Amino acid sequence: MAGQPEGAPGGKVWYITTPIYYPSDKLHIGHAYTTVAADALARYHRLQGQEVLFVTGTDEHGQKIQRRAEAEGVPPQVFVDRIVAAIRDPLWQRLGISYDDFIRTTEERHVRVVQEAFRRLYDQGDIYKGHYEGWYCVPDETFWRESKLVDGKCPDCGRPVEWVREESYFFRLTRYRDAIYQHITAHPDFIQPPSRRNEMLSFIESGLEDLSISRPGVSWGIPVPFDPSHTVYVWFDALLNYITAAGWLDDPARFARTWPADLHLVGKEIVRFHTVIWPVMLMALGLPLPRQVFGHGWLLIDNTKMSKSRGNVVDPLALLDRYGVDAVRYFLLREVPFGSDGSYTEEALILRINVDLANDLGNLLNRTLVMLERFAGGVIPPYHPEADRLGLPGVVAETVARYQEAMERLALSDALAAVWGLVRVLNKAIEDESPWTLARAGEQGRLETVLYGLADGLRVVSVLLTPFLLEAPGAMREQLGIPEPAGSLAEARFGLLAPGTRTRRGKVLFPRIEETRAAAPAGGTPGKEAKQMADPAATSEIGIEDVHRLDLRVATVEAAEVVEGADRLLKLTVHDGERHRTIVSGIRAHYRPEDLVGRQVVLVANLKPARIRGILSEGMLLAGSAGDQLAVVTPLSPLPDGARVK
Ligand code: MSP
Repeated sequence: MAGQPEGAPGGKVWYITTPIYYPSDKLHIGHAYTTVAADALARYHRLQGQEVLFVTGTDEHGQKIQRRAEAEGVPPQVFVDRIVAAIRDPLWQRLGISYDDFIRTTEERHVRVVQEAFRRLYDQGDIYKGHYEGWYCVPDETFWRESKLVDGKCPDCGRPVEWVREESYFFRLTRYRDAIYQHITAHPDFIQPPSRRNEMLSFIESGLEDLSISRPGVSWGIPVPFDPSHTVYVWFDALLNYITAAGWLDDPARFARTWPADLHLVGKEIVRFHTVIWPVMLMALGLPLPRQVFGHGWLLIDNTKMSKSRGNVVDPLALLDRYGVDAVRYFLLREVPFGSDGSYTEEALILRINVDLANDLGNLLNRTLVMLERFAGGVIPPYHPEADRLGLPGVVAETVARYQEAMERLALSDALAAVWGLVRVLNKAIEDESPWTLARAGEQGRLETVLYGLADGLRVVSVLLTPFLLEAPGAMREQLGIPEPAGSLAEARFGLLAPGTRTRRGKVLFPRIEETRAAAPAGGTPGKEAKQMADPAATSEIGIEDVHRLDLRVATVEAAEVVEGADRLLKLTVHDGERHRTIVSGIRAHYRPEDLVGRQVVLVANLKPARIRGILSEGMLLAGSAGDQLAVVTPLSPLPDGARVK
C-alpha cells in the first residue's frame, strides 16, 4: 500500500486509543476527560477524511476487581458485566463518545491474544519463572520497589501496599533496556509532552528490573497457558488490548492497515506502563511501536487529583443533566491546556458557559440572525469582495491554520481558542461596521458584505466545532439554513455559504446559567440580553464577562535586563507555568532589574503580542501608579505559576 494517501481506501487507518478503564468504581469526570479528548481527536481525523479506529474499553481482571466482587457477594463476571453496562451506556453514550470498538479484556478475542503473546515470549526466552518478593499496590495493580515507596505507601496513590512473596513468571525488561532508551531518544515525538519524555528517561536511567507478570493466588485473570495455577498480571494483560482491537491474531490484513497505533492517549500516572513496558513487549513480539503516547494531566479538585479513593469525584451524569453535553465537553477541552493539570470547579464551568458559549457564541448567532431578518429579509445576501473592510477570507484562513496546527500538536484548548479568536473578530465586526448605521446610510454593498461575512464566519465556526461539540454545530447550521452536518474540514473556507439561503432563527444556542455567583447582569434574562446586544449602546460600565476576557495569570520573573537606548523599559523573562515569555515593561525608573528576578507578578496573558523597540513583548504586567509612584502588583503569598487571577 506504499504511496497511498492516508485516508484513501486501503490506506493506513488512524488508530487512537484511550486507556481501558477499571470497572471497579463508578467513572468520574476525570475519566471522562481522557475519553472526551480522544473523541474530539477521532472526530477531527474523520472530518479530515481519514479512516479512524477509535478504541476504548474496560480492564476487567485482577485482584482489585476480584475483591470488589467478593465484597458484593457476586461472581466477578456478573460484577463487571453490571458496571461495564453502566459505563458504555449511558455514560459514554451521553458524552457522545464515538468509539469504533469497545474492548473488554474478558472477551475471548483478547484472552487468545494474551495467551499467545505469553507463550511466544516464553518460548523465545523473554519470560522465565522465578520468585517475586516485594510490595504491591492492589488498587493500582502495581509492583513497587521498596526504594520507590513514599512513607511506606504507594507513591502514585498514597494507599497502603501489601507485601507479596510468591512464585512468579518474569518478563525480561532488562534485556531491552538499551533498545527502549534509544528509541525514546531517537523519536522525540514518541512521548509527549516533552516533560514526560524526560521523566521516563530518568526512570530508565535509575534502573529497570525484570517485571513480575503472573500471580499465583489471583484467580480472576487469564490463566498462563502452560501453567494454569498462575494468572497473567493485569497490566501485561491489559496493554495487549491495543493489538487485540487492531486484529493482531484475527485479521492480519486489518492489523497491517491499523497497527502501529498513531496515538495512545493516557493520564500521566500510567505513562510509564505505556512508554516502557508496553513498547518492550512489542519489541519482544517483533511488532512496531506506537507512533505516540501522549500523557495528559489530571483534573484536580482543590489541587488534588479527583479520584474515588479521595472521595472528591464529580459525577459526569449529574453535570450532563444540569448543563448539557456540549457545555461539559467544551469545559473539559477548553479550560485546561492539554498536558497540564487543571482544576475543576463548578464556577469555572458556569463561567465558560456564560461567557464563551452564551455570550460570545450564542449571542453572535442570535444577533446575526436578527440582523439578517431585519436588513435582508432572512435571506443570505451576496458578498462583495471590494466592500469587505474586515478581510474576512484572510481571517478565516488564519484561524483555520492556527486551529489545524494546534490540533496536530493535540493542543485542544489552543484549537478552541483559535475558533474563539474568529468569534471575537465577528463580534467586533458588528461593532466596527455597525450594520444599523450602514442601513441608515443606505450603504447596501457594505451592509450585505458584513451580513454575509457574519453568517459565513459562523458557518466556518460550526465546521471547526464539529469535533468538539455534538449539538451546537448542527443547531447553528439549521438556523443558518444549512441543515446538513459539516462533511469535511475542507468546508472551513470562507465563501461557501450560498447567497439566497433562507435562515431559520431558532432557540437561543446556550441559555445563560442564571443562578450563578458569576453575577449575571441584573435582570439579564436571555431575551432581554439578546435585545440589548442587538442594539449596542456605548456605556462606560462593563459586565463581568468583559472582566473575564482578561486572562490574568501569576508568573515568576526569571530574568530582567535594561533595554538599551530606552530609558523607561525593562525586558523581563517570565515563566507562566507553561512557558517562558518575554515582556517589555515601562518600569525601569522604578525597579532595578535584579530587584525583580524571582518575584511573582500578574500577567495579562492574552494580550496581543506587540513589538516594542524590536523586541516581541508577549503580554504585560499589572502595576499600580499614582503620580510619580509605581508598584508592580504581586500576590500576597506565593502561588503556582499560571494560577488564574480573577
Ligand atoms: N486500567 C488502567 C489502564 C489500562 S490501559 C492498558 C487504568 N484505568 S483507570 O480507570 O484507573 O484510569 C483510566 C484513565 O483515566 C487514565 O488515563 C487515568 O489517567 C484517567 N483518569 C483517572 N482520573 C483522572 C483525573 N482525575 N484526571 C484526568 N484523568 C484521570 O489506569
